Amino acid sequence: MKLYRCRICGETYLGYDAPSNCPFCGAHVEWMSPPEQYDSAVNDMDLTEVERADLDTSIEVETSNTRFYLAMAARQDNATLSSAYKRLAKVEAEHCSLFCKLAKLPKPADLLEAGDELGSWLSDIDDSLRREMRATELYTQFAGRATNPRLLEVWSAVSSVEADHIELDGLAKTYI
Ligand SMILES: [Fe+2]
Ligand SMILES: [Fe+2]
Repeated sequence: MKLYRCRICGETYLGYDAPSNCPFCGAHVEWMSPPEQYDSAVNDMDLTEVERADLDTSIEVETSNTRFYLAMAARQDNATLSSAYKRLAKVEAEHCSLFCKLAKLPKPADLLEAGDELGSWLSDIDDSLRREMRATELYTQFAGRATNPRLLEVWSAVSSVEADHIELDGLAKTYI
């Protein structure tokens, strides 16, 4: 067994090989490193006004998406999809924690309270698609104007994770 530490979210994975995606934040395998390569001061930095506003927006996006996925996970009529969206809720909550750490803000008090779902799996999954496309685009934009290299890497890595979720939504439709 080996230890790997995710350079995006900072969580530790224990296993025989590096996972293809961080099980916590979904970052791709290239971000998984031996723990001794993790710099514990990586999230300490001075933020510009634009970066601070972009982190605030990121926190709002992740909180809204976490709560939406928790509501989807609470549906009682499809155990496979409930379980899949429970997993997505945890990944989005991890993104929220990461953005809060970078902004030096506490996590939103309602982060883990289920919001409202839309009434059918198909409409929920279509809404999820819109949410993931918006997150992918926003984070690409935020990465493009970040002046701090750490923020550039986080927004780029998380943007790729949200793009993976677009694919997952497509897959989810086959389980309705
Ligand atoms: Fe991670
Ligand atoms: Fe996310």
